[in-house]
Amino acid sequence: MIPQTKTMEYQLELSGLRPDPIHTWRRLREFLQLDEHAVVQMRHTSEVLLENAAPFVVAAYDYLAQFDETAAVLGWEQEMDEEHLRERRQFFSTWMARTIGVDFSDEFAEYLFHAGRLHAGHGPRQIHTPDLWVMGAMGLVQAYFAERIIQAGFDPELTAGAIGAWNKYLMLQTRQMNEGYKVALALDEGPQTVEVKLYGRLRTLIGREQQTVHVHADSTVADALRKFFDYYPTLRKELFQVRWRTPQNGHDATWATDFETVYVPRSGPYWRILLNGRDLSYDGGFDAMLQPGDVIALFPPGR
Ligand code: HEM
Repeated sequence: MIPQTKTMEYQLELSGLRPDPIHTWRRLREFLQLDEHAVVQMRHTSEVLLENAAPFVVAAYDYLAQFDETAAVLGWEQEMDEEHLRERRQFFSTWMARTIGVDFSDEFAEYLFHAGRLHAGHGPRQIHTPDLWVMGAMGLVQAYFAERIIQAGFDPELTAGAIGAWNKYLMLQTRQMNEGYKVALALDEGPQTVEVKLYGRLRTLIGREQQTVHVHADSTVADALRKFFDYYPTLRKELFQVRWRTPQNGHDATWATDFETVYVPRSGPYWRILLNGRDLSYDGGFDAMLQPGDVIALFPPGR
């Protein structure tokens, strides 16, 4: 009789991911009380902000070009690159228009998260803009908004309400960009690299076939996947569903923050996650150790 070999199945669970940036965008908005009343106050002042937006954009880039550190970031220490300047003014005008239009959409939140990743050197020009200067530039926008609103001579209650609301909104945006910036830096951190290869829908969703992830020695598949899904948070829902786990350290969970968020494969037809061609469900699970040059593949159901 041939002895039956029992294949061990590994429980695939991914914990320790950063909070979903869209969720925090909404929660922070709520915390800041950027409610309908605040939106009405902001909209009352939109027009005066728009009136001088174009000269402000021009002045902002003149300023960045003459301040030593920001000029160095943009590569404009010697002279301004006219084409790059046009490009930067164009994107900033788009951002300004959406901002003055009081855009709280999830899509805008994703765009800001993406802008943060670009600031970490992940854009087509691969320019690294330290968060210090992005935060500083946001301060300049806040000052411009406040100045314009005060100059327009609205009644004091509206003036105070609108300036406060704009400040909170720009703060919310700064945080959103910073989140994208941080996950991009994390993706590049570590002396070794592994590749995450994408198949099926995932390729269309992020517009690429693979992503390099930097890791430290002694990293596991989970470590690389954490960086990957922090960088592409919108992909989480394709492969995983969320489970909440109560704390393991003996005390009872009382607040939402006491629960740990754990990502487990979606039930039903599931995505296979392979390490160098071997299905991690049957071969090591997410605790499998990584070697430099390893390839993690994300395969859609049915392939
Ligand atoms: C109010 C603050 C800022 C906001 C809201 C902001 C927003 C953005 C956005 C939305 C993008 C993406 C544009 C796109 O491709 O669609 C971007 C890219 C970029 N930003 Fe900022 N930014 C800010 C401050 C700065 C500062 C202070 C600098 C430089 C000193 C800077 C340099 C860049 C560069 C170089 C890119 C493109 C990177 C690349 O293509 O490789 N940004 N920014």
